Amino acid sequence: MKEELVRDWSFGYILEHWIRVVSIAVLAFTGIYIHTPFIAGGPDSTIMASMRFSHFVAAYVIVLGLVVRVYMAFKSTFDADWKDFSIVENLKNVPDVLAYYLFIKGSHKDYRRYNPLQALAYLFTGLVIIFTAFTGAALYHGKAFGIIPCPDSFRWVSNLLGGESYTRIWHILAMWYFIVFMLAHVYLAVTISMINKDRTLTSIFTGYKLKKH
Ligand code: HEM
Repeated sequence: MKEELVRDWSFGYILEHWIRVVSIAVLAFTGIYIHTPFIAGGPDSTIMASMRFSHFVAAYVIVLGLVVRVYMAFKSTFDADWKDFSIVENLKNVPDVLAYYLFIKGSHKDYRRYNPLQALAYLFTGLVIIFTAFTGAALYHGKAFGIIPCPDSFRWVSNLLGGESYTRIWHILAMWYFIVFMLAHVYLAVTISMINKDRTLTSIFTGYKLKKH
């Protein structure tokens, strides 16, 4: 069998991936602090002010990152992969991959870049980012950029969800989604890399994967 290193990710995709990882980590850490200030300081301290500031900066970054990712899906000169996210096509192939994940079958069909469950999970994660941004915006009552007084233009979100307490609960549930997603994502990347021995795990750092013919 011949093995060769092939470029699997462009620098743009790698950068965009790690920016998302860092922003989710910052959002979870600062969000947990906003909810339960675990470092001495309390609600009116400068620590709280900087945690809130970091939360908002990371929020802009993750939303902007999503916009860039959607743009890349259609316009990337390296690999515009929007066709891989077809809901109908992917749903059709879910049983094939599910049987593999449940140890019913020893292998699954070959998929271009993402397997159907993976593509659907990524698509859903994009929607959760939008949902978290809306619930977060509804929880915000301060001034835009700290200076511009802004009316509660996202109050409709809280109205839809049944009040601000529910908005907060949904925002926190979304955080747990990101945490569970990240754990599953890393676990699957490590295991598939070990099974296929094709450097899947390191490809998101180096950009290269091993292809076997
Ligand atoms: C995507 C855009 C996001 C926006 C615009 C946003 C905005 C906000 C706002 C305005 C608050 C209330 C802060 C305060 O009362 O001072 C908040 C709280 C919080 N955020 Fe976010 N957030 C976003 C994403 C996230 C993400 C991705 C996570 C977790 C991974 C997260 C976790 C939390 C938590 C745990 C709280 C505390 C909720 C509470 O008050 O008990 N946020 N967020």
